[in-house]
Amino acid sequence: EPTTAAPAAEPFDVSAIVKNHRVHGSVYTSPEIFQRELDTIFRTGWVYVAHESEVAEEGDYLTRRIGRDPVVVAHGRDGVIRVLLNRCSHRANRLCNAESGNATSFRCPYHGWTFSNDGSLTAVPMRDGYGEEFQKVRATLGMSEAPRVDSYGGFIFASLAAEGISLKEHLGGATKAIDRVLDLSPTGKIDLNHGWMKHLHHANWKMVVENNVDGYHALFTHASVYDAIRPAKVSHVPSKVEVVVRDIGGGHSEIDYSAEYRKLDEEFVWYGRIPRTKLPEYVEALEATHGVEKAHDALVIGPSHTLIWPNLFLAEMNVMYVEPIAPDETIAYTAAVIVPGQDKLNERTMRRSEGAMGPAGFLIADDGEIGMRNQAGLAARDPEWLELSRGLETDIEDETGIVNSDKSAETPQRGFYRQWASVVGQEVSA
Ligand code: FES
Ligand code: FE
Repeated sequence: EPTTAAPAAEPFDVSAIVKNHRVHGSVYTSPEIFQRELDTIFRTGWVYVAHESEVAEEGDYLTRRIGRDPVVVAHGRDGVIRVLLNRCSHRANRLCNAESGNATSFRCPYHGWTFSNDGSLTAVPMRDGYGEEFQKVRATLGMSEAPRVDSYGGFIFASLAAEGISLKEHLGGATKAIDRVLDLSPTGKIDLNHGWMKHLHHANWKMVVENNVDGYHALFTHASVYDAIRPAKVSHVPSKVEVVVRDIGGGHSEIDYSAEYRKLDEEFVWYGRIPRTKLPEYVEALEATHGVEKAHDALVIGPSHTLIWPNLFLAEMNVMYVEPIAPDETIAYTAAVIVPGQDKLNERTMRRSEGAMGPAGFLIADDGEIGMRNQAGLAARDPEWLELSRGLETDIEDETGIVNSDKSAETPQRGFYRQWASVVGQEVSA
């Protein structure tokens, strides 16, 4: 007799694939583990989806993915920003196929069903063919909506699960990273509405994400960059820098340069790269908002290098988020943070961002290739485990998290995979 009962969920022993500072190779290659990540990390927790500046006006929308689930982030005519699943309730066609735009409704390309930008089903063409049965359910056939949407400092996050911790609890100490970026804007607002630089990485999404807080690889992976800038003396960073890495908890982590930046003198706008005399209007505007002292602190400390679990990364004035496509395929999107009204500053920021993270960017091109080679190496099944033990004995716990004063310690990764294990190891509801 055929049975309609769903197969019992397979027990999933996460301790067999993540052991303290060792991660099993299958974590990056297994389709089953990838599916489990989609179900637990991306369909259950908070995921970054968009910035408010991208959907500032009523009718503004953009299309994104939460994990692999396509969504439309839409600013409805009722003023509410919703995260709607990008799927027609008739036969599942992807409704909205543009990256972004402004529209009051979305019409399905397949049979023309039309949905308002608040998600409700507003028109079914050739309606004569439908009887009572359909009319009974019609009101329930709107686009599905992410049950929880919340934002912090304009960064919009969504959760596809109705229950769970609040966004504030999720972000924990990582909010500081967002605050530090916002502190650099005299209006307290930033703008990310100027397009994204996209990179398809032939690498597992976790490699793409946690490489951003890997303070170990720079001298090797990016050796050619250092070779190029050293003779040109374009960097003011001394060779011995005071930098710590930090596992903030909850999977968030960072490379913290603030101690080093503080040592730099007062003439520069963070990281010693832009002399303040070149941006007098900006410095003045920031002082007018914050007062001289706080403006000085904001400028000297600058933005951070923080990974916000699971898919967002803030690095200086760059924002990156990733979408996992397959176990060995990830799209990374990067944009420069624009400070409203500060054209001179923004022009510099944009050029820097393109130089490092653009289509031929000197950092992302290196990292992309390393990610691809990582995945290529994983095709060899021996040794089975990856090592993340650097700095294990010198980690120190304080009120900010687990800190290591060696920039190359793998402390951030240990925090990342501890969170990974706790989330992926949880029960999955059918
Ligand atoms: Fe959308 Fe048929 S699938 S109208
Ligand atoms: Fe890198």
